[in-house]
Amino acid sequence: MKVFKTLALGAGLSGLLLSAAYAEGLQGKVIGFSQIGSESGWRAAETSVTKAVAAELGIDLKFADAQQKQENQIKAIRGFIAQGVDAILVAPVVATGWEEVLTEAKEASIPVVLLDRGIEGPEDLYLTSVASDQVKEGRVAGEWLVGAVADKQCNVVELQGTVGSSPAINRKQGFEEAIAGKANLVITRSQTGDFTRSKGKEVMEGFIKAEDGGKNICAVYAHNDDMAVGAIQAIKDAGLKPGTDILVISIDAVPDIFAAMVAGEANATVELTPNMAGPAFAALDAYLNAGTMPEKFIITESKLYTPADDPQGEYDRRKGLGY
Ligand code: AHR
Repeated sequence: MKVFKTLALGAGLSGLLLSAAYAEGLQGKVIGFSQIGSESGWRAAETSVTKAVAAELGIDLKFADAQQKQENQIKAIRGFIAQGVDAILVAPVVATGWEEVLTEAKEASIPVVLLDRGIEGPEDLYLTSVASDQVKEGRVAGEWLVGAVADKQCNVVELQGTVGSSPAINRKQGFEEAIAGKANLVITRSQTGDFTRSKGKEVMEGFIKAEDGGKNICAVYAHNDDMAVGAIQAIKDAGLKPGTDILVISIDAVPDIFAAMVAGEANATVELTPNMAGPAFAALDAYLNAGTMPEKFIITESKLYTPADDPQGEYDRRKGLGY
């Protein structure tokens, strides 16, 4: 378990690995991984960590990049089934439309593990889901803003993640729950930036234009750090100070957001560990080798970071992890 430990401690992410008892190991097992794509720094890190952990465990990992398209993921999963893999990992780009292909995997007796995003559908179609509590992530972000602005009037613009994805749905819900009943906090604009830096910038430019050059915006809430980094650039281009004139709150805790905190340009982020593979492989090991059924939902931590939390140190701890 060398890689698990190095990644966890190196990133200051201790506590995210499960203390699952390992059975015989996954040496030589063939596991398919249908990844969404590389839309964000966080996604790149999840891919790197999964490959590194698989290599350490001697797993023959079949990796398929879906380039953000569900149809590519379905094709990849069907390919894994045809190859007769031992298990399948899938990070589902959107929440709906999985029943048919996951039923095919079930009929072929291939266990499926969902990574980092959830689906709408019967729970018996997957062995377990390793993900954060995404509603909580939104709530933590919203609660930070409630505390930061106190009674001040604050118009918030929201950069949503990919339409129809579980993090976009749930992070929106959690944030709205946190600000519910606070009459001074209002979401005035909300649009998807598709979890990418370039779209985050583009959409924020539109918000600034529509809101009197940004004067009517008190805060931007982005469903991930990459969109926040894009928004920071748009705020600077408009001649305003991100982090001061417009507060910046987001989710992921990637190195670039800590660099922005060091520069005084970001105010809060909620951590999402890129190490979903550690718990996933532990669950598969126990299941394939000892028949142990894992918990249906394996929930990772959602820790808030602000400029008070040694952003330079957090940057240094994360920068070598494939972001
Ligand atoms: O599903 C997790 C989300 O997907 C991350 O927060 C985001 O960066 C990625 O694109």
